[in-house]
Amino acid sequence: MTAFSADWLELREPHDRRARNPAVLDAVVASQAGNNAIRIVDLACGTGSTLRALAPRFSARQNWRLTDNDLSLLARASATARPAGVTVTAVPLDLNRDLEAALDGPIDLVTTSALLDLVSEPWLDRLAVETLARSIPIYAALSYDGRIEVGPFSQFDAAIIAAVNAHQRGDKGFGPALGPMAASAAIARFESLGCTVAHGTADWVAGPSDREFQLEIFAGWASAARDMPTISLADTVEWLTFRRDAVAAGRSSLRIGHVDLFARPTGSR
Ligand SMILES: C[S@@+](CC[C@H](N)C(=O)[O-])C[C@H]1O[C@@H](n2cnc3c(N)ncnc32)[C@H](O)[C@@H]1O
Repeated sequence: MTAFSADWLELREPHDRRARNPAVLDAVVASQAGNNAIRIVDLACGTGSTLRALAPRFSARQNWRLTDNDLSLLARASATARPAGVTVTAVPLDLNRDLEAALDGPIDLVTTSALLDLVSEPWLDRLAVETLARSIPIYAALSYDGRIEVGPFSQFDAAIIAAVNAHQRGDKGFGPALGPMAASAAIARFESLGCTVAHGTADWVAGPSDREFQLEIFAGWASAARDMPTISLADTVEWLTFRRDAVAAGRSSLRIGHVDLFARPTGSR
């Protein structure tokens, strides 16, 4: 599985759904109360996880404009089952180049998930300025924030986690990524522009029964660590073997910190 493969997005979706911060979700839903037709743009929709999580919470009619630069994911997203009264338009877009085009036309709400940690500070600034200029509230869910708790203990955990967090700062197509700094940077930027920001943790919590999910994450971390000079290949392999054994023995647990936020321009609902 790759970082954006449909298989990985499918595997993580139930964890994302459980992790989404309920108070932030309530603030998003409350912001649209009294609006009987909501126009939503979802940035980097993947296979439509945010549509599936959010659409059933609104009683109003909804039109979702789904944007992504991966045509295969976009096709899956537009084929997703959806509640009555929900229409979907799929728009292929490179959001690094064409963010402003994604925000064209009348929009009541911008959504995104698992995107902000991939983007650079200038792109985040662009997003904040462009949404504020249009007075559009934005719900940005599931930004990784650098907190990791993993058990049982391995002597290599600290080096692996340091390598993962360094890898997160690499360029993911939007310039040097904010990685673990994304949520705090976004909250600070939206607040500095005068938005009201609701935010809260949205951690992935995986236990012994979440074997496939944990194995996939550990494989991804080992692969990230391989690209970093901070830990040797031999130590990485030893760490991965230890982690796989712990998963197989039903002794592995994992918490990965994420943050959800909802930024509303002052004066909007
Ligand atoms: C981690 S996935 C999250 C997908 C979805 N929001 C979710 O939560 O399941 C990141 C998404 O960003 C999309 N993406 C990455 N770079 C992009 C770009 N330059 N323009 C548009 N979409 C992009 C990927 O195709 C992928 O769908």
